[in-house]
Parts: sequence; structure tokens; C-alpha cells
Amino acid sequence: MSNHELENYFYITTPIYYVNAKPHIGHAYTTLTADVIRRYHQMLGEKTFFLTGTDEHGDKIVDAAKKENMGIREYVNTLSNMFKSLWPELNIHPDYFVRTTDKAHIEVVEGILKKIYDQGDIYYSEYEGLYCFGCERFYMERELVDGKCPDHNRKPEPIKEANYFFRMSRYQEWLIDHIQTHADFIQPKHYANEVLSFLKEPLEDLCISRPKTRLKWGITLPFDANYVTYVWFDALLNYISALGYPDGVYFKTFWPVSEHIIAKDILKPHAIYWPIMLKAAGIDIYKRIHVHGFWNINKSKMSKTLGNVISPMELKEKYGVEAIRYFMMREMAFGLDSDFAEDAIVQRINSDLANDLGNLFSRVLAMTHKFFGGKIPEPDPEAEIEFHLGLTQQAMNTIEIVEQSMEQFQFHRALSAIWDFINHMNKYVDTTSPWVLAKNKTSKRQLETVMYNLLEGLRIISGLIYPVMPKTSKLMQDHLAIDSTEKIHTISWLKSWKMLQTGKKLPKTITLFPRIDVTKLSGQPYPIEEAQQSQTTKPEITFDEFQKMDLRVATVLDAERVPNTQKLLKVTLNMGETRTVVAGIAESYSPSDLIGKQVIVLANLTPVKLRGIVSNGMILAGTNQGKHSIATVEKPIQPGTPLK
Ligand code: ME8
Ligand code: MG
Repeated sequence: MSNHELENYFYITTPIYYVNAKPHIGHAYTTLTADVIRRYHQMLGEKTFFLTGTDEHGDKIVDAAKKENMGIREYVNTLSNMFKSLWPELNIHPDYFVRTTDKAHIEVVEGILKKIYDQGDIYYSEYEGLYCFGCERFYMERELVDGKCPDHNRKPEPIKEANYFFRMSRYQEWLIDHIQTHADFIQPKHYANEVLSFLKEPLEDLCISRPKTRLKWGITLPFDANYVTYVWFDALLNYISALGYPDGVYFKTFWPVSEHIIAKDILKPHAIYWPIMLKAAGIDIYKRIHVHGFWNINKSKMSKTLGNVISPMELKEKYGVEAIRYFMMREMAFGLDSDFAEDAIVQRINSDLANDLGNLFSRVLAMTHKFFGGKIPEPDPEAEIEFHLGLTQQAMNTIEIVEQSMEQFQFHRALSAIWDFINHMNKYVDTTSPWVLAKNKTSKRQLETVMYNLLEGLRIISGLIYPVMPKTSKLMQDHLAIDSTEKIHTISWLKSWKMLQTGKKLPKTITLFPRIDVTKLSGQPYPIEEAQQSQTTKPEITFDEFQKMDLRVATVLDAERVPNTQKLLKVTLNMGETRTVVAGIAESYSPSDLIGKQVIVLANLTPVKLRGIVSNGMILAGTNQGKHSIATVEKPIQPGTPLK
């Protein structure tokens, strides 16, 4: 049993985002992970609280408002609302949206500042240093890269002024000890090591004020009205002010189980300033922090500073919320950077969602309708022995991997385990061949058993995908006639087998995810190398790996030369659906040689763009003395039939 099942409460937060620019995919990813993990904890039966919000004080917000020609209040309200209204669009539902301009928040900041000042942890001193206005903080020489701030690629400016300082150095040893004795305090582990290595050098005290002569947009220090509070000392306190610190019920129940999610850009304030602030204020420190990497575009961080941002709403319109949620959680290994490429979204939709999951679902439902008029059949204990083939065990193993992966925020691993099970189910269909069992009256019990097992497997899949794809989960459950009066189906419901009610009638099957026609999208062209075949001896593969190849019979409907090329033919194929494939066989076959012929196609090859034509699959052929010879079938076969 995981630790979390023993606890009843779960509190998850995102960073509060600066309102100096509109939200992009980077912000959406962090907030999505919080939504996903909270939905998962609801499945564990816990009471959860999910917090996000906006960070609204500081120089750069003032600058941004000026640029937009707006009053500061009007500006922060408008931008904050953009974040707040985006989340439900992505089916993300925080419990509370905190703003650092909220009165309750400001009062908490004042209270904590006063407390720490009164106990002597804040002192006044003259300081001269290098200040980055982008980061709103002083830099040490050794932190700069070529004399520039690594985040903003700008030279920090020398500033000399009197300010208030927080004695962080007092707590350095305590923090090192805490990190070393709490193995999962900072996750994944390499970020804990990064923090520990930073803490090997003496920690400088933190400048927590800005003179009003320079900046007015902030929270006035309760002990000196000539200064406002440094934006980080203000912002970090949102995590407790939103819970009603110090006396609120939410603070008492949720703070002890607090977990933060951030990206690595703000590791230092969260893993060093924040625990020390809490410690100094006499508040228990948070339980864990989870640090993810960056979404990059062509290797550089997607950021408002660089302007290379992708709008979540545009993606939603193009691909739909469920696919976007799946893509982000599946594609990024939490903790590492990931390159953002739209090709990869299309690939995931067509292969994982439309093909693996979508086909399995519609196939099983269609067979249930065909064989039993849509009624859930009764499994037979005797047939079960022969036809079970370890399906329950596979399902239970999958649930276990999902539990372990979610505990460690390894979302991509959880999804990959679910997809292994989906592929196992697809294999189970092929191995048991229900259409063969259906031909013979004497195998009726076997057929009922096999189909019941498949429907049960789909029930478990529907539950496991819930945190990432809640709408698809619900849609699947509606089509499995699962009573959805119970709000969220729990992990223990998934761990029980035979939960579907036999005899219930299922609604007609549906397409969960339509394939995306890449020719209709204006994405980036695929690199031509991908289409080239390797000539070297290839490593051994397992049967499972072979099974991933979708080889199909196709009939050539049409063929034409690709203009200005020697080798390329554009071939139109009937393979159940109509497809275009570009084949490098024009020196061996003229178009008329091919029309009407049956060929073998690798149907699930990543599409490539060749001379502006998207090639969706590959025609198999060998060569003899430079001449191609295409592979074909010995007797005519229905186009689209898979080969195995
Ligand atoms: O730092 N990839 O706000 P911010 C992944 N207000 N995540 C990204 C990302 C990218 N390319 N770009 C942004 C602040 N993010 C402070 C936080 S908290 C008390 C104060 C996400 O608007 C990621 O979560 O710059 C990152 O940590 C956060 O946005 C930074 O948001
Ligand atoms: Mg930032």
C-alpha cells in the first residue's frame, strides 16, 4: 500500500504565474499536471485541494501595463482573468484561484514580515550589487554567464542602495540536514542534488525590500513605509494565505500534506527561500516539491521573453482538449525537458488514441452488438480457465505500475503501462479470435467468456485514463453501461474483477478519436531522412515488437509520377480507407504497371512529407540488380486485411 492511501488529505499547488504576458503551453502543462494528480488522489478516495493563481506585484508588471497603455489595476485584473478563465477550457478545475493583490493575501504577508522582523531575522543594511530587472533579484558574479543573467540574456545593472535583508544564512545547516534526511522532499532526485550542491557555498542573506523611490507597486513593509516587499517574499506566501493562514480550517487540514509543482526555473526560491521563510516564521515546511523540465521549441525554452510561445487555445481548437492533455502528459518525462513538435501530437493521436485505444474500443463494442445484440454476456467459469490467458493478472499489474508511477509523478510511465495493457488487449482479441468462436454453436460459452473479459478490460482502461482524459473515461463508461451516479470510480473499484453487470444493454459503438488527416494540417514538413531505409543488419526483435508493425494488403487505385523527380511515384491505395503513399520505385514501375495490383503496406509508419506530398505508409519492395520488385500476396485478399 502506498503512503497516500493511508492519508485522507492531499494539497497540490502550481506556481502563481506572472501577469506580464498571456498564458502559454508551459503554464498549461504545470497546471494540467496538478489537475491530473489531484484527480488521481480523488480516485484514492482522498479529500483534495488544488490551488493556482497569479503573481501580480513588481517592476515587470508595471512595465507590461505601461506597454499596454493600461492602468495597473485594470491591467492585472485583465491578465489574471486570462489565466483564470483558461483553466476550465482545458478541463482543469482548481479549488481556489489566489491573487497576490487579494486583501487576505496582503495581510498574511504583512503579518509574517512583522513576526520575522520582531524576532530579529530581518536587518537593515547598505548593499551594492548586480541587479537583473527581469528576475527582480541581485546576482552574484558566479551565477552569471558571460557577465549576463542566464535567464534573460541581459547584463544585470549595478545598484547601490539601503535595504532590508532576511538572515537566510542562519538556517542553511538546518535546510541541508532536512534535505538529506527527507529523501523525497525534492523530486526527482537530481534536483535535490542540485540544491545541495548550491548549498555547499555559504548562503547570502536575501534582500527582501525595494525602495519606493524606485518601485511603488508592491506590499508596503509593515515596519518601514518607504519600502515595498520583494516580489518573491510576497508571492511564496500565497500557498498559505490561500488556505486562510493562520486560523483557517483549510490551513489546518491541508497544509501538513502540501505538495508543490514547479518547473526548474524557480527551483531556488522554492527549495531554498521558501522552506527557510517557513522555518523562520515557525510554520511547518511543505511536504514535497515536484520539479519538471522545460517545453522547448527547437531546443530553446518556450518563454514570453523569447516570444516563441504556443497558445493552449489554438491547440485546443486544432486537436481537442482530451488529445492535448494526453499528449502533454505522455510526451514529457516529468523532470526532463521535452521538445514541443506538432508532428508528435498528430502521431500520438493517430497511433495511440485513434489506432490503439479507439480501435480496440469500437471493435469490442461492435462485436458485442454483433454477437449478443449489445448485451453484456455472462462469463463461464470453465471456459474462463482456457480463455482467460492471464488478462486479470495483466490488468492488476498495470494498475500497480500506474500507482507507483503516479506516486512519483511519472505520468508518462503510467500512460505507457496503460498502453501496454491496451496492446495486450488487442492481442487478446487476435489470439482468441471471437469471430471464429462465433461461427461455431459449440463455442458459445467460450465466446461469451472472451467478450466479457474484453469488456472488463475496457472498464479498467476507462478508469485508469480518468485523471488524464476525464471526458473519454466518462464516454467509455457510458458506453459500457457503467452507472456514473458515483462521482469518481476509485482505484479499488478498478482492482476488483467482474464489476460489469451481465445482461445490461450497451449503447451503439462510437469513434473515440478520429484519425487526423496530416495532409489537411499545415504543420512542419517531416525530415526526408525518415523515409530512407537502413541497409545494415538489424538487431533481433521480439514478437511484441514485430506485432507493432501494422502490415496490410492494399490495392493500387491510381499512380502518377511526382513532377521533377526520377524515382518517385505518388500512389493512391485502397486499404479499407484511401491513402496516399510516395514510393521510390518509378525507375522500375510505370504508373500503369501498378494500377490494380495488390501490394503490402506498412500502415503505421510515421508519415513523411516528400516533395510536398505527405506519404502515409510504405510499400514494401526488394531490389535485384537495381530493379525494384514489389511484395504482393499470392491470392487476392480484401484490401485493408492485416498480415501477421
Ligand atoms: O516564475 N516549460 O512565474 P512565471 C515548462 N511568478 N513550464 C513552463 C515553461 C516552459 N517552457 N514556461 C513557464 C514565476 N512554465 C513566478 C512564480 S510562485 C510563488 C511564483 C511554467 O509566469 C513553469 O511552471 O514565470 C514555471 O515554473 C512557471 O511557468 C513560471 O511562471
Ligand atoms: Mg518566468
